[in-house]
Amino acid sequence: AIPVILDVDTGVDDALALLFAARHPGLDLLAVSCVSGNASLAQVTRNTLAVLHAAGADEVPVAAGAARPLIERPRPAAGAHGSDGLGGIVLPDAPRAADPLGALDLMRRTILASPRPVTLVALGPQTNLALLLRSYPEVAAGVERIVFMGGSASVGNATAVAEFNVWHDPEAAAIVVDSGVPCLMYGLDVYSEPAVPESLADALTGGDDPLGRLVGQLLQHRFTLVDGRPADYTGGLGDAGAVCAIADPDALGTARLPLRVELAGGSRGQTIVDRRTLFGEDVEHGIAESWTPVDVALTVDGPRLARGYL
Ligand code: BDR
Ligand code: CA
Repeated sequence: AIPVILDVDTGVDDALALLFAARHPGLDLLAVSCVSGNASLAQVTRNTLAVLHAAGADEVPVAAGAARPLIERPRPAAGAHGSDGLGGIVLPDAPRAADPLGALDLMRRTILASPRPVTLVALGPQTNLALLLRSYPEVAAGVERIVFMGGSASVGNATAVAEFNVWHDPEAAAIVVDSGVPCLMYGLDVYSEPAVPESLADALTGGDDPLGRLVGQLLQHRFTLVDGRPADYTGGLGDAGAVCAIADPDALGTARLPLRVELAGGSRGQTIVDRRTLFGEDVEHGIAESWTPVDVALTVDGPRLARGYL
């Protein structure tokens, strides 16, 4: 099984991702770190522990990390996930607390103790990962790659050009991309495509298996936003698709492309992806701009990943 650490801002679709990672035989979920994003750090940590408890995975270590982005104030996504981060889905509290030593310590210990290089999966703003790589650079040798849900080679969602996770902490994303650890960007270009029909979400919700009912409820939430506007990711697995793609990498079409995170001006938080090399062009970048080759997911076999999820 592939050893993974999940960094989450749970979040309806982070919850779907946690359930998948905790139960998938091809993945070994070593630890989970929490970050402020969709909801406050305290709420995210509570949600994460509760979701893992529902999955019967109380043995997976969980720790809280950054309560705010490196520079800006937190800007929770209550419009998409509700003020509780789980769209009003009520889960019993887990019978345990988070690791008191915190996320950086947990991630560091876990990576250094793993006999095999670990895949770090970021499903929220990348604040924890940036702090980890800057505070403990020695962990990089124990990281196979970083797979992050975030960014876009096309349109944005938080702004016209910026995706929420990168927009929430652009400096952190820039540090991660520039860290020297190989990165796969699972961005908005593929995010909405692995999806299930509403009838399936309804059937799961009405079923006998408690875990299936929770998955059904979380999926049902993907058909309506909390504020009543229709979702742009109807039925989509969202963050969970990134984890499915680690278990089934051939479902993605990727290209290694120069990328940089825009930190200034109105396009702050945009991941600028230079796709000209795809067309065989020789590209020269200014020496003042730092571009990094990143594997960018450009296409996905959505039905295949969604089938794998269920
Ligand atoms: C990302 O932002 C959050 O709302 C989701 O959990 C996902 O990680 C999509 O832009
Ligand atoms: Ca998320």
